[in-house]
Amino acid sequence: MTGSTLLSTHELKARYGDFQALYGIDFNIAEGEVVALIGANGAGKSTLLKSIMGLLRVAPDMVRLDDRPVGGSQPHRMVSHGVAIVPEGRRLFSGMSVVDNLRVALDHAVPRQGELWTIERIFALFPILKEKQAAPVQSLSGGQQQMVAIGRALLNQPRLLLCDEISLGLAPKVVREIYQSIPSISKNGTAIVLVEQDVGLARSASDRLYCMLEGRVTLTGRSADVSRETIGEAYFGASHAVA
Ligand SMILES: Nc1ncnc2c1ncn2[C@@H]1O[C@H](COP(=O)(O)OP(=O)(O)O)[C@@H](O)[C@H]1O
Ligand SMILES: [Mg+2]
Repeated sequence: MTGSTLLSTHELKARYGDFQALYGIDFNIAEGEVVALIGANGAGKSTLLKSIMGLLRVAPDMVRLDDRPVGGSQPHRMVSHGVAIVPEGRRLFSGMSVVDNLRVALDHAVPRQGELWTIERIFALFPILKEKQAAPVQSLSGGQQQMVAIGRALLNQPRLLLCDEISLGLAPKVVREIYQSIPSISKNGTAIVLVEQDVGLARSASDRLYCMLEGRVTLTGRSADVSRETIGEAYFGASHAVA
């Protein structure tokens, strides 16, 4: 079930030097909600996640958590506020074992109330990781590495989990396996943002979706309600929409 607003962005603008990547993004997510963020390559999806996570500088009021300004906080502060990211490209310690990659996150875990994620719970979520726990991460398949990356983020005990294209480059069967874990993650009230290029997958896995195009939100709505045509226009721009 979803609750009150957990995190919101307000007229969020972000730049890389002279290049403006985001032009005033209004985004929000409630406790326990799964929100998909779709859009073509270069739309600004990763930039929005990085801005929320404190990996890009933004003004304090542009990001609010529990209605308090947190924009521009350092990433480790955002982790202690309960925001974790599964970054693009996973960024694991590839020479280290599965369990050691997970332990690293435990070392940085923040005290939190409620049911906490443990390594055992990660193994219950992704049983293959238990079998491979002693293996170096680099010997795992791409899908299994993605599971380690998700597990590591969960061990930060997030209230909000930001996932950047976790299905990218994976076989459909593995993608299904990973997406099947989403409901068990959100059922404890953890909110999840899914950046996803596969629109069908994004829709079926989420409560609501946002579509971005060239640094702006072009569509937002309940995932079950928005039509394919509407998404097509928002995704490519009205001028490119297929009749
Ligand atoms: N480090 C960077 N330096 C300069 N421009 C960047 C950088 N990262 C992304 N961009 C640009 O910002 C825009 C949005 O990128 P990004 O957020 O990565 O899009 P998406 O994740 O939707 O594919 C793109 O035009 C991209 O080229
Ligand atoms: Mg991206």
